[in-house]
Amino acid sequence: MRNSRWLAFLLFFLNTSMVLGYYYEKGAVYTLTKCPGYYCGRHLIEYGNETKWSACGSCPRGSRVNSSWACTDCNNSPSIYDWMYLLFMVLLGLLTQWYSIDIIAPSSHFSMKTFGMHLSALLETFLSATLTLLIHQPYGLLSLRSCAVEQLSDWYTVLHNPNPNYEEVLHCAQEAVYPLYSIVFVHYGLSVLMIFSIRPLVNKMFQSKGHSASRPIYAALYLFPILALIHGVMAGLIYYAFPSVIILLSLMSHAFHFASRTDQSWRALLYDTVSCVHNLVVVVGHWALHGFGLIALTLWLQPQQLAAILTLVPLPTVLYIALSRFTDPGKFHSD
Ligand SMILES: *[C@@H]1O[C@H](CO)[C@@H](O)[C@H](O)[C@H]1NC(C)=O
Ligand SMILES: *[C@@H]1O[C@H](CO)[C@@H](O)[C@H](O)[C@H]1NC(C)=O
Repeated sequence: MRNSRWLAFLLFFLNTSMVLGYYYEKGAVYTLTKCPGYYCGRHLIEYGNETKWSACGSCPRGSRVNSSWACTDCNNSPSIYDWMYLLFMVLLGLLTQWYSIDIIAPSSHFSMKTFGMHLSALLETFLSATLTLLIHQPYGLLSLRSCAVEQLSDWYTVLHNPNPNYEEVLHCAQEAVYPLYSIVFVHYGLSVLMIFSIRPLVNKMFQSKGHSASRPIYAALYLFPILALIHGVMAGLIYYAFPSVIILLSLMSHAFHFASRTDQSWRALLYDTVSCVHNLVVVVGHWALHGFGLIALTLWLQPQQLAAILTLVPLPTVLYIALSRFTDPGKFHSD
C-alpha cells in the first residue's frame, strides 16, 4: 500500500519534469522567442514579401547572439587589450622567424646578410599585418569591426552546442569573437605568401645565397603551420595568459643575457650594457617586451594603475646589476 503510493508519487514527479523540460519554439517565428544554449540565436530571413526570425541555430558570420536571442552584427571596435593580443600573435610570428634566421645563420657574428634577412622578415610581417587589416571589415581601412570577448568559452563555441531535453544537438558553433580568431590564420597565411614573394628579392639585394638564405624560408613553411595549430587549439588561453607569458619569458631571457656576460661585477655589467650597441639594443628590447606585458596585464586586471606599474619596467635590470655582487659564484669559493 505504502509502496504503491511512493510509486505514484515517483511517476507524477517524472511526468511533470518531462512536461517542464526545456521548451523553445522550433522553426521560424514572427516574434523573437528564446533559444537554448549560449550561442544559439535567430536571424532575420525573408519569405517572399515578409520577414521572420529563423529557427534557433548559429548566427551568420560576423554577428553574435544578444541577450534577447537575436543575431546582431559585430559593430564594436576591438579594445586596447584586443589589439595587444593581436600584436602579440603578430610578434610571435616575427620573433620565431628572427630566431630561426639566427640559428641557421652560419656565424654568430653580426653580418649584413643576416641583418638583411631580419629586416626582410620585419617588412614581410608589417606588410602582411597591414594587408590583413585592409581586407577585414571595414574594408580598406586600418581598423577592425569586432564582437567583444566576454568569456573564455567565446573562443570554444564548438564545445557548447546545446542538447535540449536530450532530443537533438543544436549546432550553434560560430566565431563569437569575430574576427579575433580567424584574423590570426589570415595573417599567418599571408605571411607565408609574403616570405615567398619578398625574401628572394631581399636575398638577391644583399647577395646572400646557399643554405643560410634558403633554409629560413623552408623553416617558415613549418613554423607558421605549427603556430596556426597552436593558435587554433589554445587561442582562448593565450588571449588571457599572454601578458604573464611575456613578462615571464622576458624576465628569463633578460637574466640569461646578463648571466652570459663574463665579468659579473656591477661596474662591468653597467659598462658593457652602455658601451656596446648590441647589448643596449638587447636590454632596451627586453624593456619594451616587459613594458608590453605589464601594460597588457594592467589593462586586463587594473586599468587605473597603469602609470604606476610602468615605473617597474627597468626594475629587473637594476636589480640584476645591483644584486650581482651577492650572487657572484666567486664569493662562495673565497668564503
Ligand atoms: C504578400 O504577398 C501576397 C501575394 O504575393 C499577399 O497576398 C499578401 O497579402 C502579402 N503580405 C503582406 C504582408 O504584404
Ligand atoms: C537584440 O537585437 C534585437 C534585433 O536587433 C533588438 O530588437 C533587441 O533590442 C536586442 N536586445 C538587446 C538586449 O540589446
